[in-house]
Parts: sequence; structure tokens; C-alpha cells
Amino acid sequence: MGSVGIEQTQVPNSTFQLKGETSDTNSADFVPRGPLKTKINFFTDPADGAKPWNYVEIPTDGSPQRNYSHEEREVEILDIRGREQDFYLDKDAFQVFKVQDSAEEEFVDDESIKQKYYPEVVDLLLKNVPGAYKVTLFDHTIRRSEKGAPRAPVTRCHVDQTARSTEWRVRLHDPEQAEELLKGRYRIINVWRPLNGPVQASPLGFGSADTTMDKDLVPVEHRYPHRTGETAAVRFHEGQQYYYWSGMQNDERLMLKCFDNKDGVGQRVPHTAFVDSRSPPGCRGRESIEVRALVYG
Ligand code: OGA
Ligand code: FE
Repeated sequence: MGSVGIEQTQVPNSTFQLKGETSDTNSADFVPRGPLKTKINFFTDPADGAKPWNYVEIPTDGSPQRNYSHEEREVEILDIRGREQDFYLDKDAFQVFKVQDSAEEEFVDDESIKQKYYPEVVDLLLKNVPGAYKVTLFDHTIRRSEKGAPRAPVTRCHVDQTARSTEWRVRLHDPEQAEELLKGRYRIINVWRPLNGPVQASPLGFGSADTTMDKDLVPVEHRYPHRTGETAAVRFHEGQQYYYWSGMQNDERLMLKCFDNKDGVGQRVPHTAFVDSRSPPGCRGRESIEVRALVYG
């Protein structure tokens, strides 16, 4: 991975600041770091025992967006900053990188994002995902925290895809070669970054692949206006370990694997934004982009 320059000073309350950062927890510039305890929303079964579903777009007729609920559970979230090298895709299903600044700066125009930012994402994946020889980007989402933003940070623990929906994605986005590609190794990986880092609020938490059991993952019918996909909701169980990468910067990238058809490697990371009670008054609301990729090989 690209080297991640870490210079940090330890302060008594078990958190830390990077060089040059304020340790005044009330300053609007304060960046929360280190481990914390917080509450995350986990799946609970539909009362009627029906198969879980949700609509991607909020129904305009007032009917419910989903037929299942969530419960808040307290989890401890560890900070991977300072031990980035311990985690990698084939073991943990997530990995972090430091990169050059992006050619795209505005992130307001989809065409410009596709022209300027997509090639950087393809390059990062081809260079760093073991065995990757072909990458197909199929989607991106920009999230902003202000009221009325079309997409906000997600506060429900989930995995974006399942085995079934990954296969559907291969057929949808690489139709000509799908039969051949499905015989080899294929993965879906999200590449996540902030747009207004360092992240001070609503950071993204992600679960360790090996402490998340397959039985914790519940397939959910994911209803778009024109087609239906499948995601997974996440049940709480004691022992699921969560992480985040504190104060992520604009030149840092988090890869989150959503599915891998190879056995015996880290398969997928559950993830969700969470509330950090240490976010200082007056800090920036988090803005981010995630790009979704089919990765072959
Ligand atoms: C993702 C995701 C949520 C968020 O990148 O797949 O679920 O709050 N992101 O950024
Ligand atoms: Fe997601």
C-alpha cells in the first residue's frame, strides 16, 4: 500500500491528535481520534415473518420504505489509524490507501466525476487488488450531511451486495463477457473517500470480516424503480468487532469489499456511519463519495 505518514502524540484520555492538530476538544477544528463506544443500528426481523424488503426511493404515497426495523446496540469501535498495515483485502475485506490528490475537485457534476475521478479509482484498484485484471465501475454515490441533501450518511449497518446480486451485476454491466467472467474470480469493492476531510462527524464504521458470521447477514430485497437487487442487513451479535479510520482526509481511500466468490478469504465488510459524541460544536458535516466496482481476477 502507499505509505501512510503517521506522526501522532498520545494524550492522556486515550485519544490522540496528529501533528499540528488541536487538542482542544471544543474547537471547531478538533478531529476525534482513537477508540470509542457508540450505538449502531442493527437489523430486527419483520413482525409478520415476511421476507425483508426495502424501496430505494422513499415511496411518494406515504407507504413504508421498508418492512423491517432496527435496534440500537452499543459497540466498541477501534481506530485503525497507526496500524493501517495490519489490514488487507484478502484477509479483512477492507484496506486503506494514501493517494495523490485527485484531478476532480468539485464533485458536483456526474460527467466530470466520470471523466476525472473514475480513471483514478480504476487505477487504484488494478494496482492494489491482488490478481485484478479488469475493473468495471458501475455506480457512485455522493453523500452530504446538510438537511435536504439527496443522499446522507447511512445509519443502518449493511452490506451492499450478496452473492446473488453480485452475479446479477456482472450480467448487467458486462453482458457480453458475463459467462466467461463468472467462471473466474469476481468481487465487488467500494472505494470510499471524504470530500471535506478531515472527517470530524458521521465517520464510516466497518465490521471485521472474520467476526461477522454468515448467519448475521440477512438478505433484503432492494427495490429500485425499474429493477430489484439484493443487499444484506446485519444482525447484532456479541463479538462482532468494528473499526473506523479516524479523521479521514481527501487523499485517503478506503476499499470495502462487498462480495468475493473466492473461498477462504475475507468476504465482505458490514458498514455504517455512526454518531461520534466527540464531534466538536461547529464542525463540518461529513461529505463523501463512494464508487462501486466489479473487480475481476
Ligand atoms: C457505502 C456506504 C455509507 C456512508 O460506501 O457503501 O454504505 O454513510 N456508505 O457513507
Ligand atoms: Fe454501503
